[in-house]
Amino acid sequence: MKKVFVNNDFADVILNRHSVRLFDPTVKITREELQTLITEATTAPSACNLQSWHFVVIDTPKAKEKIKKAVLKFNYPQIDTASAIIFVVGDTQSHVVYRDVWQKVYEDHKITKERLDQIFGTFLPLYENATSDFLKLDATIDSSIVATQLMLLARAHGYDTNPFSGVDFENIVPVLGLDPKRYIPVMGIAIGKMAEKPLLTTRYDATTLTEFL
Ligand SMILES: Cc1cc2nc3c(=O)[nH]c(=O)nc-3n(C[C@H](O)[C@H](O)[C@H](O)COP(=O)(O)O)c2cc1C
Repeated sequence: MKKVFVNNDFADVILNRHSVRLFDPTVKITREELQTLITEATTAPSACNLQSWHFVVIDTPKAKEKIKKAVLKFNYPQIDTASAIIFVVGDTQSHVVYRDVWQKVYEDHKITKERLDQIFGTFLPLYENATSDFLKLDATIDSSIVATQLMLLARAHGYDTNPFSGVDFENIVPVLGLDPKRYIPVMGIAIGKMAEKPLLTTRYDATTLTEFL
């Protein structure tokens, strides 16, 4: 995939990403560009290529007011000023279409029939017999990875972001219009043009967090 980004400086995209919590409210991002961002983000890896993520885009004043019912108040500034919020939720039923996903990989001549049968024989039973906790954890991991990729792609498109999980976890999924038996909340990502310099954070010394076995 060859792609020209507004910001193609890899080091700047990654190392200068900071959470922005106040955006220029006059900036609109088209739905086409938001969809492009999501499409690009879904090149992220996922367990067994299950892609157990789902996205809800909030880009109108009415939709913003609606989700605020299930978002903690300290996150209102981002919601009020962002061009859009992309809420990432995990899909605990993604294995239901798993067969179709891999069938397509086979039909696109990317894997042999033997490999296809091996995948169906190995991974499918793992998910079909999985506990609810396993499916939720799997979906949370996949969705967190795609969310990170989405934030970095937003930088490549010339925007900044704030990930937030300060929400009412019991109610956010129904407020987003989704089935809470199937989808689990992961995080919202507020996206837009920075209106205030972000707080610069520090990190623990990674050598104190690292073990070599
Ligand atoms: C899973 C997750 C949840 C977060 N929730 C919130 C939130 O509810 N509100 C907020 O202002 N920031 C939230 N943040 C942003 C963090 O505070 C921020 O990433 C951290 O302080 C490091 O700062 P940086 O993003 O500028 O590097 C969240 C970040 C992550 C990854």
